[in-house]
Amino acid sequence: MDSETLEAYEAHGERLASEYREHKRVSSEKFKRAFPNHSRILEVGVGSGIDFSVMIKAGFEVLGLEPSKELQKHAERFFPEVKGRVVADAFPLERERLKEWGSSFDGIHCCAFVMHFKKKDRPLIWEQFGTLLRKGGRLFCRFSETRDGLDEQGRDAMGRFYQILSEDEILDECEKAGFRLLEKWEDKSVSFSRGKGWKSHVYEWNGSD
Ligand SMILES: C[S@@+](CC[C@H](N)C(=O)[O-])C[C@H]1O[C@@H](n2cnc3c(N)ncnc32)[C@H](O)[C@@H]1O
Repeated sequence: MDSETLEAYEAHGERLASEYREHKRVSSEKFKRAFPNHSRILEVGVGSGIDFSVMIKAGFEVLGLEPSKELQKHAERFFPEVKGRVVADAFPLERERLKEWGSSFDGIHCCAFVMHFKKKDRPLIWEQFGTLLRKGGRLFCRFSETRDGLDEQGRDAMGRFYQILSEDEILDECEKAGFRLLEKWEDKSVSFSRGKGWKSHVYEWNGSD
């Protein structure tokens, strides 16, 4: 993972977690629709833990991945149900992790995560998501297309890297990686302070066995 981005989450974790808890989030109904009859979910980029908590309360078995120890600490403090279910690791995953977790998830949810990768690095992320999902599993991916306040290198004031992207690019990359789009919508109900044009895509994994 980009080390400057991780350092920024470590340095500003408490404030960011509190900001994320304030944002209006998607409802448990949306998760149930995205992951019908699907139980084991990987929450990538746990952040404040708020979506994780909603999914646990909705009856899903959730495992989280969060590289920032600081964010993990605050997630566990505010949402005790998250405790013991978060692994400190980052995408792209190492081969051993992929072997351990391969084809073991019915769903993957990631919100405000994919923009942290350069375009050239995204295909590997989709490929790894496919490796982690069972055939027919779902990917619920939420992202913003643009962001205010970035410098020429695509870094915000805290040093986090953000890639400006379009939903057509995401759709094209996911389809090439073996995902089939089931549903997409613009997330007007979810407000984030700096991201603009929030999109939600739900895919089914149809790739190789
Ligand atoms: C903008 S925050 C969003 C947090 C949470 N998903 C939300 O929507 O409130 C981005 C999250 O992605 C995590 N993240 C960034 N790069 C990552 C990587 N390479 N692998 C896993 N998580 C990463 C960050 O630590 C942070 O939790």
